[in-house]
Amino acid sequence: MLPCRPLSLLVILVSFLMVPGVTVKKENFKTCEQSGFCTRNRAYADDAGAKGALWTSPYELDSASIRFKNGQLHGTVLKTTTINEKVRLPLTVSFLRCGAARVVVDEERRMKGEIELRHGSTIRKERYNEAGKWALARDPELSESASLEIDKAAGYTKVSYGPDGRFAAIIRHTPFEVQFQRNGEIHVKLNDRGLLNVEQWRAKVDPPDGDSGEDQSTWWDETFGGQTDSKPRGPESIGLDIAFPGYDHVFGIPEHADSISLKETRGGSGHHDDPYRMYNADVFEYELNSPMSIYGCIPFMQAHRKNSTVGVFWLNAAETWVDIVKTKSSINPLAVGISSKTQTHWFSESGQLDVFIFLGPTAQDVSRAYGELTGYTQLPQHFAIAYHQSRWNYVTDEDVRDVDRKFDKYQIPYDVIWLDIEYTDGKRYFTFDPNNFPDPLGMEDQLDGSGRKVVLIIDPHLKNVPDYQVDHELKSKGLGVKDKDGNLYEGWCWPGSSHWIDCFNPAAISWWAHQFKYDKFKGTSPNCFIWNDMNEPSVFNLPETTMPKHNIHYDGWEHRDVHNLYGLTYMSATYHGLLERKKGVVRRPFVLTRSFYAGAQRVGATWTGDNLARWDHLAASIPMVLNNGIAGFPFVGADVGGFFGNPDKELLTRWYQTGIFYPFFRAHAHIDSRRREPYLAGEPYVTIITQAIRLRYQLLPAWYTTFYQASVEGLPIVRPQYYIHPDDEHGFAIDDQLYIGSTGLLAKPVVTEGAASVDIYLADSERYYDYFDYTIYQGAGRRHTVPAPLEKIPLLMQGGHIIPRKDRPRRSSALMKWDPYTLVIALGKDGEAEGSIYIDDGESFDYQRGAYIHRNFQFGGSALWSEDIGTKGPKTGEYLKTMAGVKVEKLVVVGAPQSWQDKLSVTVIEEDAKSSTTTSLQFHAAQGNKAAYAVVKNPNVAIGKSWKIEF
Ligand code: GLC
Repeated sequence: MLPCRPLSLLVILVSFLMVPGVTVKKENFKTCEQSGFCTRNRAYADDAGAKGALWTSPYELDSASIRFKNGQLHGTVLKTTTINEKVRLPLTVSFLRCGAARVVVDEERRMKGEIELRHGSTIRKERYNEAGKWALARDPELSESASLEIDKAAGYTKVSYGPDGRFAAIIRHTPFEVQFQRNGEIHVKLNDRGLLNVEQWRAKVDPPDGDSGEDQSTWWDETFGGQTDSKPRGPESIGLDIAFPGYDHVFGIPEHADSISLKETRGGSGHHDDPYRMYNADVFEYELNSPMSIYGCIPFMQAHRKNSTVGVFWLNAAETWVDIVKTKSSINPLAVGISSKTQTHWFSESGQLDVFIFLGPTAQDVSRAYGELTGYTQLPQHFAIAYHQSRWNYVTDEDVRDVDRKFDKYQIPYDVIWLDIEYTDGKRYFTFDPNNFPDPLGMEDQLDGSGRKVVLIIDPHLKNVPDYQVDHELKSKGLGVKDKDGNLYEGWCWPGSSHWIDCFNPAAISWWAHQFKYDKFKGTSPNCFIWNDMNEPSVFNLPETTMPKHNIHYDGWEHRDVHNLYGLTYMSATYHGLLERKKGVVRRPFVLTRSFYAGAQRVGATWTGDNLARWDHLAASIPMVLNNGIAGFPFVGADVGGFFGNPDKELLTRWYQTGIFYPFFRAHAHIDSRRREPYLAGEPYVTIITQAIRLRYQLLPAWYTTFYQASVEGLPIVRPQYYIHPDDEHGFAIDDQLYIGSTGLLAKPVVTEGAASVDIYLADSERYYDYFDYTIYQGAGRRHTVPAPLEKIPLLMQGGHIIPRKDRPRRSSALMKWDPYTLVIALGKDGEAEGSIYIDDGESFDYQRGAYIHRNFQFGGSALWSEDIGTKGPKTGEYLKTMAGVKVEKLVVVGAPQSWQDKLSVTVIEEDAKSSTTTSLQFHAAQGNKAAYAVVKNPNVAIGKSWKIEF
């Protein structure tokens, strides 16, 4: 640990507090060249590439070792080293019920603990094998139908698996290679280029003078930014190339500020020079169009080509890099046709090689299977999907009350106000500053009056001072992260000298959860929720702004092995704390996390960190949000307005008009930025921003239904083109427009200054209606210009959808709970439409016992009907009773047929009703490009009942 003198701390803090320059401090973060194992694995790839056909991977599967039982294949891969030793690498290939296959390679010698550690270290000797414990929702179930065919003579083993046995893994023994086929066609290949690399354990022996042997310069102690990593286990990286034959596009592996279709990384025009890096880090003022790692990571990638999506999930929590190269070659110079291939090369600093392969065939199938493994998105409390107002900081409890009153005065809805680190007593989490927040309970009570909440920040670093009880307990109970010598690790963050909780330790989790009890965290009420920040973990005084890799966690694992999991373990502990703050009162927690890993979707939401108040950062937020959804963690947003700096009013307004399409919609700002609550913007901006926020509130029923789908199917909440139009090649890379779930709503936010219109790309020949004035846009495979003056949000409805909404403006979503619904029926060109709605109490877990409404709406043959698609549970009846008075107050049929012009009424037939009734209809004829529409006011049908309306 580096002692940090007060002066240097001051410099660090001042630089954090300063209004930003324009660039990230790149020198704080490693490039591939500065990372030993990255350089070694790239050099290995270069060497293989240079040797071409002369290169043979030195790995073979020992045919005699193969055993297959209950959906699992075991064997031993042998690596022949440069000095002709055979290194034994146990292999397990599991075929899973969810349709994925899992390939795990370990190292026998390390598994048996037959290695020596350097520097007298006492850490674990095995390769880290517990990433699944945190990332996976449960132990994956093995497939009972996977079947083995061995052809030893031909030197390969084949296993058929997946739905109807349509998938196959073909394992070549020498050199070792695995091909994954769907319906006989190869979609994924492991070790295609022979870059499999398991750095076996070696003792450090000083080579005789002049004998260079293998380049050992980065095998042992490695220094960066003045810090030396002692590497007690020496070199131990793993690497593998994964090819996607026939695929041009790969997506995922967040978090990067880059396009959704990932770029090539081996240099050249429009390509990156470095691989995409995954090493969670506090990179403020992050760079755009960059493969640099930022706060979180999910090593899950999808490859997509026309009508096919496949995926890989690299389950490793150590520092990881991914190189991407794309090739195009003529299949046959005389024949027509180009074969393309995306070749990826993954390498991690330590741990097991553990990779899952998903064979689709659709993006939905891949998302579902990945979700079955790592868990689906938590169904959040209803308030969490509404608008959040934050800044660093609301300075007193009176300040909070005042902001709350102003929102009401200006009639701007909001649900949550946030308190950043300054609410604490001198950065002691779980306390309130007694001078500035003398009456937190009174403040919370005022908010509760309109159903509003407060979110409080709690970071994982605990202030190292004698009078802080929480830190005192951490120390006395031994629940903190240790340094390499086994002493409590000390570093610097907001409070100055700090200790870090080690949530890999079950005792730390229960102790942490206990801190959230009402009698522990005094001054908090049931309407308080939590924000976990700085959990990469951020350590100010060290290179890469994080703790040393040789720090030690619970059970003797090195920080190196688990770095990318730290944030997830921490937010999960907080989640547990919020589940039951008072014995017997269980509610859905809300936790916002900055750092994340696969699985974080089960326990919270995230945001894209410290962005800048600039147009390019506004634009970058859309691909970043989309990409998180592709990677299974869709509850994400970006700081509306931009964290650093002061947006001008146009930028702020456009940011709100974009932010309403983030699944997580929060405005936030740096402590030095000027106040920018929406009511301060002046006219016409206040009105325009208010309209944008109200649009979000109007569509909350559609958003909540989409969140519900994500929570049972793992699908993204906002979706890119290729999810909706998998056959339209022109759309695959488009990442500046998005669909809200399966509602048919297509938004293209304005992200450029002075724009008066946007060009929306339509993939199909369906009709698209402007959300506000029903102008029709139609024409496949091209862009359509949609007017977008400042007051106009470019939002279309794809024909064929029924969109549920609530039209009465209220102060908060809680106050909309019993409001009636409007259904917008956007007729497709075939005159039909379909949609769904999911409703529950928005806060408890009663929905798991049937307390919910889930209905399908269909329009066809001049009738609209509502059909129950839920499954009944013990609480269904009771819940339906509470909802009996909640009705549909309006139907709007967009694209209504001209034949309705003389129609004056519709017939309403409700389940259980003694007779049918009639209700009036108003027809509005088409005008120019604007579609005809019909309005039925007050059909008076209950949202929770079955009914039919005949037009
Ligand atoms: C970090 C967070 C930011 C927060 C600040 C103070 O920079 O990313 O959102 O306001 O810390 O807590």
